[in-house]
Amino acid sequence: MALHVSVVGATGAVGRKLISLLDQSRLPVSRISPVASARSAGQVLVTERIPIAPIAAIESFSFTGADIAFFSAGAEVSRRFAPRAAAEGCLVIDNSSAFRDQADIPLAVPEVNPEVLRQRPDRGIVANPNCSTIQLVRGVAPLHAAFGLTRIVVSTYQAASGGGLRGITELASDSAEALREHPGPVAHPDDGEGRFGMRLAFNLVPQIGALDDWGAAHEERKLRYETRKILRHPSLRIDATAVRVGVFNCHSEAVLAEFDRVVEAAAAWRVLDAAHDLMLYRPDGWPPYPTPLTVQQAPSTNGHVHVGRVRGDPENPRQISLWIVADNLMVGAALNALRIAEQAVTNGWLDAVTARA
Ligand SMILES: NC(=O)c1ccc[n+]([C@@H]2O[C@H](COP(=O)([O-])OP(=O)(O)OC[C@H]3O[C@@H](n4cnc5c(N)ncnc54)[C@H](OP(=O)(O)O)[C@@H]3O)[C@@H](O)[C@H]2O)c1
Repeated sequence: MALHVSVVGATGAVGRKLISLLDQSRLPVSRISPVASARSAGQVLVTERIPIAPIAAIESFSFTGADIAFFSAGAEVSRRFAPRAAAEGCLVIDNSSAFRDQADIPLAVPEVNPEVLRQRPDRGIVANPNCSTIQLVRGVAPLHAAFGLTRIVVSTYQAASGGGLRGITELASDSAEALREHPGPVAHPDDGEGRFGMRLAFNLVPQIGALDDWGAAHEERKLRYETRKILRHPSLRIDATAVRVGVFNCHSEAVLAEFDRVVEAAAAWRVLDAAHDLMLYRPDGWPPYPTPLTVQQAPSTNGHVHVGRVRGDPENPRQISLWIVADNLMVGAALNALRIAEQAVTNGWLDAVTARA
């Protein structure tokens, strides 16, 4: 089998990470066609192993002949072009929010709900969940299986890279500016023009995405409906507060989980300790808990979900609290998409390709 893979959004934070993962992966990829906006057409990205074409503008790109198309260019681009890619025969793995809430589109985290990937979807599109949802469900799914979740209260601390390359560069330049100006006024005005609505450097911004009529932000709504869909638990209560923090990469989450059954912290610990690709931190070890920096600085485990501060509550024996950190560009986007592709190959969705090759 030799797969021709197209990466839409190839110049972005997720697209670049995905191309480097593909280059190192065991997937039998024979060539990569990178796609972006007309602004980037003709630029050349570098890979070590797999041949890669110059970047094509999406308007003029034909998906015919590509076997898999990874979309990481925002919801508008996915709405407009992913159905065309699927109609042209590609399996689309979409990183945007465009299709996640649609009943006939699988929303997949292969470690948690691989059953949604048993059959190739009729519409030819699989949705990758939101980055903060992926690390949340990978952290709580083992506990749900063991003790039955009834409620989650989650506060997220989301890094600038969640806002793409522009978010990263904006945090860097605003930080430099703020340090130069300190303690005087900062140059970047809080005028809503920046990537995060307000200046992020040395700040916290408690709104990610547009507010609805109830005052919930888009990121908080995604955490709710995506977690329910992935865990197949429509009555799960989820209270989310999503906060953007002045950190370059890796999202963190403070999670309070309530269960049907009484849960001893030691029992929760044993369940989490047995979970796949989940790293547990002991309070008497070093580091005693994961942080965005410790996770970022340990690239060999940046595909793991990192969990610390596991504790019960003597006043509520059905409750466990956790601190979950993960690399949002890897766990929350590129790696999850790659694992969906691997599962599709394992499940024979691309066998026609084998026949053709
Ligand atoms: N960042 C994360 O942690 C994360 C996690 C999960 C999911 N996602 C999702 O992944 C997607 C990409 O995020 P990102 O962080 O990688 O963003 P990014 O760094 O801003 O990159 C955006 C990419 O989309 C391309 N693009 C923008 N407008 C386009 C258009 N009209 N036509 C074709 N290509 C266009 C850009 O190409 P040019 O360079 O040519 O403009 C660039 O390659 C988004 O849907 C985001 O919600 C992101």
